[in-house]
Amino acid sequence: MRSSQLLKEFMETKRDRSAWLKGPAFPCEVTAPNVARPWKLVLLGAPGVGKGTQAELLTQQLGACHLSTGDIFRTAKCLSEGERSPAMSVALEYMRRGDLVPDTTVLQMVRERVNCLRCHGGFLLDGFPRTVAQADALQALLREQNLALDAVLNFALPIDEVVARLAGRRTCNACKAVYHVTGLPPRKEGICNQCGGPLVQREDDKPESVRVRMEVYEKSTAPLTDFYCRLGLLVSVSAQGSTTEILGRTMAALQSRDRNGPKRSRMSVQGV
Ligand code: AP5
Repeated sequence: MRSSQLLKEFMETKRDRSAWLKGPAFPCEVTAPNVARPWKLVLLGAPGVGKGTQAELLTQQLGACHLSTGDIFRTAKCLSEGERSPAMSVALEYMRRGDLVPDTTVLQMVRERVNCLRCHGGFLLDGFPRTVAQADALQALLREQNLALDAVLNFALPIDEVVARLAGRRTCNACKAVYHVTGLPPRKEGICNQCGGPLVQREDDKPESVRVRMEVYEKSTAPLTDFYCRLGLLVSVSAQGSTTEILGRTMAALQSRDRNGPKRSRMSVQGV
């Protein structure tokens, strides 16, 4: 299948993310008519903990706009060399190894979608920020826009379960739907339920890249829990159990925060 066809299919299946994928000037298509409260959230947690899965479910529940920096890089991979900017080609090389893409490239991309920070249903930042420098830049960007985060959800899971989730993940090459060989198997082995495309293992889910990603997470991203704890924004949620159990815990944590307000310098813990 040609790269432009893959990209088109991806954009058609990923409702709320499509605007970003079509370029900075493209208007966001998220419609959230009955939103009781627009949540402005960041999702934190180790690679493979289930952030993307929960983000999809939270988007349906909250009507928020799901912004995933990892998705944008993976989509750029579908483009041919000639269609990619030189900066994007460099970014993809970092990603393939399991390293973080340089902060300047990521921040430039996020700035392109600054309008989505004002989406009617709020927003879910998935995979951003990932370093203290990115978190500082996000705080500055939000201040500039006269906005503030409501909470930072930190999904926690023992490392052996995280590794098992990454090792068994399979992704549709065409529509990017996510499966797990045992936890969420497709009806027909190796074939996507939604579009019939082939299921593949992500390049950065191979053991050598997973090792690098875990080290990078511990060094660069784990310190963000202290950063957001000091701001009174951190809400830790256990990522153990089924996806609906985790969603239930997350919604309960958000509702409790809504009722009781933030607890400055203390972690509120749900099911950990
Ligand atoms: P990104 O795409 O953000 O990857 P990640 O953070 O490593 O997260 P993953 O997508 O691997 O996992 P997830 O937590 O979303 O888990 P999922 O829901 O899929 O980033 C990729 C790369 O891009 C980075 O390494 C970096 O190079 C670059 N990048 C991106 N953002 C960047 C930034 N801001 N700065 C610099 N570089 C950046 O679930 C995993 C598996 O578990 C699936 O198979 C799923 O079906 C299964 N699963 C989920 N929930 C459950 C459950 N409850 N029970 C059983 N199985 C489950």
